[in-house]
Amino acid sequence: MVATCEFVTSEVKNGVLIITINRPDKLNALNKQTIEELHETLAEAENHSEIRSVIVTGAGTKAFVAGADIAEFANFTIEQGKQLSATGHFKIFNFIENFSKPIIAAVNGFALGGGLELAMACHLRVVSDNARMGLPEVSLGVIPGYGGTQRLAQLVGKGKAFEMIVTGDMMNAQDAYHWGLANYVTTQEALIEKCLDITSKISSKSPTAIKTAIKVINAGYNNKLNGFEVEIEEFGKSFGTGDFREGVDAFLGKRKADFKGN
Ligand code: COA
Repeated sequence: MVATCEFVTSEVKNGVLIITINRPDKLNALNKQTIEELHETLAEAENHSEIRSVIVTGAGTKAFVAGADIAEFANFTIEQGKQLSATGHFKIFNFIENFSKPIIAAVNGFALGGGLELAMACHLRVVSDNARMGLPEVSLGVIPGYGGTQRLAQLVGKGKAFEMIVTGDMMNAQDAYHWGLANYVTTQEALIEKCLDITSKISSKSPTAIKTAIKVINAGYNNKLNGFEVEIEEFGKSFGTGDFREGVDAFLGKRKADFKGN
């Protein structure tokens, strides 16, 4: 499954979809086509029950993603700029954040602008020790437009987010770990292996409960919802699922659960 496109390649390994953004000569910058291909790849994966989690990384050893494609938006009007941001939010950044299966960003180098925003939209970030992360948009006379103003503050706190956004400074891997931007730091060689360690744990758990957990955690960051109320509702609904019956039955029967994701 999962089509191989021009700028996005993908493979499935033991239930894990590994997506590589593949424009290394442009440091994997996100142009319109890459956004479309990434969206299509993820949309297709959403409906495949054998895929339990996703890893997103960048091709080559230098960059995860060096941002939105600057050359592509160089002559945009106000309206086109707004459209660029809105389409990105809809097709990639909010889409990833609300994806029903955990998505890990394997940050293998520069993650700048839209690249850091992509990593931040993912549910977890594993970062190689050469990685450099930042939101340098103010150097170009724009602001982060793919969720960076919101998600950076959520992850590192408002004060550090202000500093990073107004100075455009990059953060190294150790600092990213210190500030909660990275879940783990590894060598570049060990990066995907570390992500696969995490996905192997995810694969043994209930897909239904994981999907619900993602929904409820995100509800707490949606100012139109009350996260606690959503939690009460969804916790209750869990008792009506096949996975709940299987999980409890397996525990009481002292056997390993075989979750069907129902
Ligand atoms: N959009 C379009 N092209 C980009 C790009 C981006 N965001 N980031 C890098 N590239 C291209 C460069 O133009 C260059 O292309 P070329 O070889 O055809 O000239 C190629 O990728 C290699 O980049 P280069 O700048 O030569 O590498 P470097 O090692 O000197 O510098 C960076 C690396 C990441 C520091 C630098 O590329 C950079 O600052 N990129 C822009 C980051 C940014 O501002 N992102 C936010 C965008 S809103």
